[in-house]
Amino acid sequence: MDTTQRPVTVIGLGNLGRALAETLLRNGHPTTVWNRSPARAEPLAAGGATVAATAAEAIAAGELVLVALLDPPAVREVLAGAAQAVRGRALVNLTSGGPEHARELAGWAARHGAQYLHAAVYAVPQTIGTAQSSINYSGSAAVHERWRDQLAVLGRGTFVGADAGRASVHDVAILAGMYGMLGGFLHAAAMAKAEGISAAELTPMLVSWLGDAFPALSTFAEEIDRADYTTDESNLAINQAGLATIIHASRSLGVPADTLVPLKELIDKQVAAGHGAASLTRVVESLRKGT
Ligand SMILES: NC(=O)c1ccc[n+]([C@@H]2O[C@H](COP(=O)([O-])OP(=O)(O)OC[C@H]3O[C@@H](n4cnc5c(N)ncnc54)[C@H](OP(=O)(O)O)[C@@H]3O)[C@@H](O)[C@H]2O)c1
Repeated sequence: MDTTQRPVTVIGLGNLGRALAETLLRNGHPTTVWNRSPARAEPLAAGGATVAATAAEAIAAGELVLVALLDPPAVREVLAGAAQAVRGRALVNLTSGGPEHARELAGWAARHGAQYLHAAVYAVPQTIGTAQSSINYSGSAAVHERWRDQLAVLGRGTFVGADAGRASVHDVAILAGMYGMLGGFLHAAAMAKAEGISAAELTPMLVSWLGDAFPALSTFAEEIDRADYTTDESNLAINQAGLATIIHASRSLGVPADTLVPLKELIDKQVAAGHGAASLTRVVESLRKGT
């Protein structure tokens, strides 16, 4: 069977939903769209999309239903209003939310006779459908398998498990890592600027240093998974002293050390508990158990 002929629906035509619909249409998939504000559907109609008058009508038209709305409450509201239409549908929810939202929706879908796949999108609308787009999925493996061709045009897909919340756990954890790095970058830029060094001058050196440091994360990950924090290299006591120096320097430059102090406090806690010779990675114990 020519799988490009199976009907697909996109619910929500904001920046992401519009990019999803455009990509599906470009790849020859018959696509029905719906958006709360109808004007957003007009350019897609010109591109060959069928525009539905209601969310229920749109869901009834597509065997695969991609949902890209602002947030979980909006998804809940729209799906609740179209509950009669979801039976037999494969719902793929690309709306950002926590794992609890994904699990709640998976349960709701099951109670209404639909299959549920949660999607965490690592792309911006401009890169949907290109090699720069990747999407993690969790929930129904059957949906991921059956709609492989349609999902593949959106970006590189990885199925991370049957628990609907799992892709979201990956997502929020990865974003937490990203924001930690961005916090560090912003702090570094503020310290440099305080001494008349431009961010543009500093950044290539910082990027090079971080690039050299990234491979160590795989070694750190193994330590964390084994919960074996023995090290003869970067131990907690050394990092405690190093971070104290940086915090002192930052303050002396007039830059408050707000982004650095929380990590220092976690290290202090570990050292105070007698783990100064252990690897820096032991901080994960404080984050997980508060000890
Ligand atoms: N954009 C990205 O790069 C990106 C990347 C990864 C993940 N995401 C996630 O994808 C989701 C959508 O992002 P976006 O960039 O497309 O957002 P957006 O441009 O702000 O669009 C939001 C969409 O949600 C609709 N909406 C909001 N509240 C609603 C409600 N109560 N009932 C019905 N529709 C409602 C809006 O409809 P109206 O047009 O009527 O307002 C619009 O279609 C978000 O959860 C976002 O975090 C986005």
